[in-house]
Amino acid sequence: MDMTSAPPAILQPAQRLQQAGLLKGLQIGSLSLESSVVMAPLAGISDLAFRILARRHGAAMVTSEMVSAHGLIQRQKKTLSYLRTSAEESPLAVQIFGAEPAVMEEAARIAVDAGAAVLDINAGCPVRKVVRTGAGGALLKQPELFERILARVRRRCSVPLTVKMRTGWSHHSPVVLDLARMAEECGVDAITVHGRSVPQGFGGKADWDIIGEVKTRLRIPVIGNGDITEPVHAIAMMEKTDCDGVMIGRAAIGNPWIFSQVLALSAGLPPRAPSPEERREAILSHFELLSELEGSTRAARRMRGLLLWYTKSLPFSSRFRGAITSITDMSSLMAALDLFLDKLAAAGATH
Ligand SMILES: Cc1cc2nc3c(=O)[nH]c(=O)nc-3n(C[C@H](O)[C@H](O)[C@H](O)COP(=O)(O)O)c2cc1C
Repeated sequence: MDMTSAPPAILQPAQRLQQAGLLKGLQIGSLSLESSVVMAPLAGISDLAFRILARRHGAAMVTSEMVSAHGLIQRQKKTLSYLRTSAEESPLAVQIFGAEPAVMEEAARIAVDAGAAVLDINAGCPVRKVVRTGAGGALLKQPELFERILARVRRRCSVPLTVKMRTGWSHHSPVVLDLARMAEECGVDAITVHGRSVPQGFGGKADWDIIGEVKTRLRIPVIGNGDITEPVHAIAMMEKTDCDGVMIGRAAIGNPWIFSQVLALSAGLPPRAPSPEERREAILSHFELLSELEGSTRAARRMRGLLLWYTKSLPFSSRFRGAITSITDMSSLMAALDLFLDKLAAAGATH
C-alpha cells in the first residue's frame, strides 16, 4: 500500500475521534508515556539495536524479548545479556517468563536493578518448550498459580507492573476476561491483550472484540495487540475496542516507520513513507548499532538478515532478495543494496 496515497480523509468520523487518543499519551502506574503506541516483545528480534530504532521512529515504549526468570536467577550470561539497555531506548519494559512465584519475584528484582522502567509478565507464549514448564500461555490454565506470581512480583517490584496475555488456553474459553480482572486486583498497572488464544499460534485473525470486552471490565489501561499491519489499523483498533494504547509487533520488523506513521495519522497528517535514502540510513544506523553492541564481525553476519527485513514486500525486491542469498561480504551486500535503492528511487516508489 502506498502510504502517501492514504490521506486522513479516509478516516470515518468515529475514527477521527480516536486520533487524539493515540497522541494523548498513556499512564502506566507512575510512568507517563508520550503517546499510546508501543512496541511488542519479539523473541529473537527485539534486541537493543532494534528497540533503539523503534524509539527513534516514535514508539513510546519498547519491550525486551521474553527473558527466562530461571536464567536470570541462575545468572546465566546469555540470559543476563537480554537486560542490556541504554538511555536512548528508555523507557524499556523487560518481559520475564516463568512459573514459580519465588523465582519470578527474584527475577523481577534483577530486571529492575538492571534498568527496567516497567516489568512485564508473559502470559501468552505458545511455544512448547515454555508452556511445558507451566510458564507463558500455560499460566492461563493455572489461575491460582498465576495470581500467586502476580501478588509476589507486585510486592517486590518497585516499577510499574504489566501483564501481556493471550485470550485463553483454549480457543473456546476466553479466560482473559476473568484473569485480567484478577491481575488488576493484584495491583497490575496495565494489561496488554493479544487477541488470539494459545492454540491459535499466529493463525487466523486477532479477535479485537475480546480486547474491547476486557476494556469494559477494567479500570487500568488496556493495550490492544494483534494484526496492526498498517497505520490505519491502529486507529481502527482504538475505535473498535476503546483500548488505551496499541502495541505493534511484526509490522515493525524492518519497518520502524510504522510508529511515526501511526502518530502522523493520529495528528491528521498523511503517513509519509520513507524515501529510498531514508531506508538506506535506517539500515546503516541499525548496522552501526549492531556493530557497537555485538562487534563488527557479528554485525556483518547479520547484515543480510537486516536487508531481508528492510526490503520485504518492496517493489522489485524479490530479485534483490534472491541475489543477496549468495553474497557474504559486506561491500558487495552494500553495493547490491545501493543498486536496488537506486532502482526504487528511479521508479519513484516510496512505499
Ligand atoms: C518472532 C516473534 C517473537 C515473539 N516473541 C514474543 C515474546 O518474546 N513475548 C511476547 O509476549 N510475545 C511475543 N511475540 C508476540 C508479539 O509480541 C505479538 O503479541 C504478536 O506478534 C501479535 O502482534 P502483531 O500482530 O502486531 O505482530 C512474538 C511474536 C513473533 C512473531
